[in-house]
Amino acid sequence: MPFRIEDLQKALMALNTFRQYAVSPHHERYSFPLLCGSYFAYRKVDVIRIVQIAKAISNNPRYLDVGCGYGDFLEKIREYLPNAKGVERNAEIFYACNRLKPDFIDVSNADWDISEMYDVVFVGWMEPGVDFRDRVACKTDVVITTIDQGLSLGAEYDGHGFDRIATWRSPSWDDVNTEIMNRYYTSISKETRQVLSKLRSAHNLWYVYSNPSKSDIVRSVIKKCIKQEDHDFINEHYEFESVLDDCGFRYHEELEEPSSEIESTAKLWEIRLI
Ligand SMILES: C[S@@+](CC[C@H](N)C(=O)[O-])C[C@H]1O[C@@H](n2cnc3c(N)ncnc32)[C@H](O)[C@@H]1O
Repeated sequence: MPFRIEDLQKALMALNTFRQYAVSPHHERYSFPLLCGSYFAYRKVDVIRIVQIAKAISNNPRYLDVGCGYGDFLEKIREYLPNAKGVERNAEIFYACNRLKPDFIDVSNADWDISEMYDVVFVGWMEPGVDFRDRVACKTDVVITTIDQGLSLGAEYDGHGFDRIATWRSPSWDDVNTEIMNRYYTSISKETRQVLSKLRSAHNLWYVYSNPSKSDIVRSVIKKCIKQEDHDFINEHYEFESVLDDCGFRYHEELEEPSSEIESTAKLWEIRLI
């Protein structure tokens, strides 16, 4: 469902009210992801993984973020890949966020308007019912997607002749938001909050897909990422990651009582090669 301008305006008013009471400037990116953050909770380690994959494919990678919103995640990627671009259908998002549309984001429809070829296409969190896989699959050899378990679909490229190379999970923005609200903006006892925090069960799943001709390269760079992270992770983070740490969504966090198979087989942000 596309966002209507009235919905964006209401969200903006709610955001302005929230800002008057906010306990931390970093909470809004999780409570108002479309206006101030991204729908998938991420850390710098996600950005570095994606940049490494792109650089393994090409020395000067052509990178496209499809449905990039106002460009929160894309801006992080551009710190490493300055030519990275985005495509976003909804121009109103820039007015609602009171931002100038940057030149590196095209306002157009990915269903028919991706004209060039790209080394990597990133599709982060698509609404239910939106599906431009046919278009994306013929414009790149590597697709990286995130999908909010149970909510968004259209993020699987196995049926388009791609190999699924690796996956990891980060928290659902919804679970992070609920934890922030329970912890900082609601008067409930610590005991109740601890019980509620065990109920989290949504996940943002990241998938790396490759055309078989590039699968060996992609697999090998992901193995390199796994090794590197063992050494470098602690030095590489964004300030807003402190919210994830405080709310129990730490890197490689394991739940005491996993409530689903995915929680028991992999820790948060742990890469699984397929
Ligand atoms: C749920 S939002 C996610 C935005 C951003 N990737 C994020 O994670 O915060 C999905 C975005 O995809 C955009 N979108 C949906 N269909 C699209 C299409 N066919 N072409 C380009 N953008 C599209 C929507 O306008 C919306 O901004």
